[in-house]
Amino acid sequence: MKIGFVGAGRIGATSAFTCLQHMDVDEIAIVDIMEDLAVGEAMDLAHAAAGLDKYPNIKGGSDYSLLKRSDIIVVSAGLARKPGMTRLDLATKNAGIIKDIAGKIMEYAPESKILVVTNPMDVMNYIMWKETGKPRNEVFGMGNMLDSSRLKERLYAHGARNIRKAYMLGEHGDSMFLAKSLADFDNEVDWAKVEEETRFVAAEVIKRKGATIFGPAVSIFRMVRAVVEDTKEEIPTSVILDGEYGIKDVALGVPAILGKNGVEKVVEYDFSEEELEGFKRSASILKERLKELGY
Ligand code: LAC
Repeated sequence: MKIGFVGAGRIGATSAFTCLQHMDVDEIAIVDIMEDLAVGEAMDLAHAAAGLDKYPNIKGGSDYSLLKRSDIIVVSAGLARKPGMTRLDLATKNAGIIKDIAGKIMEYAPESKILVVTNPMDVMNYIMWKETGKPRNEVFGMGNMLDSSRLKERLYAHGARNIRKAYMLGEHGDSMFLAKSLADFDNEVDWAKVEEETRFVAAEVIKRKGATIFGPAVSIFRMVRAVVEDTKEEIPTSVILDGEYGIKDVALGVPAILGKNGVEKVVEYDFSEEELEGFKRSASILKERLKELGY
């Protein structure tokens, strides 16, 4: 099994490290415009693997042909959010980068599934899908999985226990919302406070350490594992919608089954009016941004 990474920055490298520790990966390829960084990360990862008595073929460089035969490619390349910036501020700059990456992936690894992380992720996910021309089940994004991890941490901090299900859905951004009708845990919490803290906690991390790394890396690992091990798990995923929840032609976070085909299916729950409104609000914000970018 081969995992490709476009972007050897802290999220890409830490995701590769997390996948390496928790799965039996045969090959890892890390590609970055900064060739030395990619080579250095590949070497360091190979040393970590040997420390675990694992000897996968790990290669790094700036040549996209390294991605050949990847089962899935994690795309985190692009400019990172600076303190005070929203994910949407990044859109214009990163749209050009994603368009270029899409062409190169189609040249060297057209069969690979693609997991988009670059922000604003839902917008970049849609652009990746458009620019690759791949079927919509093969291009998807990591956002609400991470938002939902943060929600579970906040719920626990506010006294929730035995957290069986807790999803943030919609935009991986300021319009994300807590899916109360799906939430399943013991004890009462202040819903509004938990939702508000979850929505803005990433900015708090960025303000203090300059970026978010470990949270994204574990969420990326969870989604990669679901695909490469065909687990058919239900994971909140940014999906290119084609009528689900009454929404078309935009990518945003919905409950989805992930497996060897990528997005196996979108799970359509009987959400409340408020939750359906949440999807529509995220969709309209994201469509507006796509329109500004010419999509
Ligand atoms: C975050 C980035 C990955 O939410 O968007 O930490």
